[in-house]
Amino acid sequence: MENYDQYFEANRQAWNLRTGVHKDSEFYNLDAWKNGATSLTSIELREVGDVKGKSLLHLQCHFGQDTLSWARLGAGVTGCDLSDEAIACARQLAEETKLPAKFVCCNVYDLPQHLEGQYDIVFTSYGVVGWLPDLDRWAAVVNHFLKPGGMFYIAEFHPVIWMFDEQMERFKYPYHNSGVIQSENVGSYSDRYANIQYTDYGWNHSLSEVINSLTGQGLQIRFLNEYPYSPYDCFDKTVKGDDGFFRIQGLEGIIPMVYSIQAIKP
Ligand SMILES: C[S@@+](CC[C@H](N)C(=O)[O-])C[C@H]1O[C@@H](n2cnc3c(N)ncnc32)[C@H](O)[C@@H]1O
Repeated sequence: MENYDQYFEANRQAWNLRTGVHKDSEFYNLDAWKNGATSLTSIELREVGDVKGKSLLHLQCHFGQDTLSWARLGAGVTGCDLSDEAIACARQLAEETKLPAKFVCCNVYDLPQHLEGQYDIVFTSYGVVGWLPDLDRWAAVVNHFLKPGGMFYIAEFHPVIWMFDEQMERFKYPYHNSGVIQSENVGSYSDRYANIQYTDYGWNHSLSEVINSLTGQGLQIRFLNEYPYSPYDCFDKTVKGDDGFFRIQGLEGIIPMVYSIQAIKP
């Protein structure tokens, strides 16, 4: 089997650098969030539903803004992320806002060695599976942490989006997983002029790969939704619609940009 450790280490360093930029960015708007605004989008708020009194495990939680937004809605939350800078920031935000939360810093694949228990909800969102080489191993972790009857939920950028070049002009990458993709980056999606440079490693995952990894663990798919827009302005050549969502200029209503899946552990 391929040795992925060098990729994970490069990605950890890349996400540490990005975190330093993200926490002060307009994109994440921590000031508004600290004043009570949710960072969750209408998609997951509607599709996950009421979380009051439920235990929720957030995989790849970045610096905890979404995790803590679920806590504000009454969930008992735990977040996990590979980036030590992101987890340090998440813990600081929890302390500052007095929101109860637990944060674990590790690779999602190693989480069963760092965390006990099972959860009512396992949640993950927007920019997550692309950092993982093996979705069967990922789905096994999801299943490991779900209570019987518990819900897995993912909202994620659609694999079609990752086929485009950085300018969103033409197809550059295969739809299906064709192995590791190395990227040389300057800045970040939250601030493309930020003074950071780094290499990272990702993998494209088709919808069938995501779904088959979950059903392979015995999870039952409740729904798969596909959206022709993104709640986040994080791609090139976006236009904002009257509905507040972002689309790629010239491709409005033509390509899918986000998908979501809800699955239940029997
Ligand atoms: C785009 S963020 C997703 C979170 C959320 N959408 C947000 O913007 O706050 C991706 C996160 O995945 C984390 N990550 C990448 N590879 C990981 C891995 N193997 N295990 C755990 N976390 C990982 C990164 O550190 C980063 O915080």
